[in-house]
Amino acid sequence: MKKIVAFTGSNHSKSIHQQLLNFAVEKITESEVTMLDLSDYPLPIYSLDIEANGIPEEVRKLKEVFVANDAIIIATPEHNGSMPAYLKNVIDWLSRLVPPKNPFFGDKHKPVLLMSTSPGVTGGSTNIKTMAELMPWWGGDVKGTYSLGSYFEKVVDGKLTPETDQELTDVIKLFEAQL
Ligand SMILES: Cc1cc2nc3c(=O)[nH]c(=O)nc-3n(C[C@H](O)[C@H](O)[C@H](O)COP(=O)(O)O)c2cc1C
Repeated sequence: MKKIVAFTGSNHSKSIHQQLLNFAVEKITESEVTMLDLSDYPLPIYSLDIEANGIPEEVRKLKEVFVANDAIIIATPEHNGSMPAYLKNVIDWLSRLVPPKNPFFGDKHKPVLLMSTSPGVTGGSTNIKTMAELMPWWGGDVKGTYSLGSYFEKVVDGKLTPETDQELTDVIKLFEAQL
């Protein structure tokens, strides 16, 4: 059985990405899933000065989590068309564990599913497109992307609408089939 680690790039206590991830993870049937909370690995904003005193232990621990898993699901907000600083900071720190331009998720081709949502219609898809382009540099092999626009119209009374539920089921099945 393959092992998947799932996490959000949001530091919002009522994150809609965490909710989306919860919906997605419920649909995983063929793999073992670990939900990772980045707030368990608090990191300072990346700085060459801080790094000169040593890469924080949390960065190494995070890398161990990725190494220990066969695949990654990331659900992340889009901030001004790009990655939230919170997630970018984690990426920047992880990248310092390896020589420049080397993969840092554990191997060269770690299967990745990228997801996003937002109250707006585009659902954070601009950032997901950019992340998908960058992922090969980071060691991720993007097997699927999913952006859910208009979140508060697609999640009603804490439930996905039937069409969205089916959409997400299909995304997860396709991802699992590629592991
Ligand atoms: C600084 C900032 C910039 C944002 N920029 C975008 C954006 O470019 N595109 C978008 O779809 N939503 C944007 N949003 C709205 C986010 O999509 C929304 O805050 C996010 O989906 C909430 O997710 P969360 O609850 O998981 O943190 C922005 C929000 C903030 C606070």
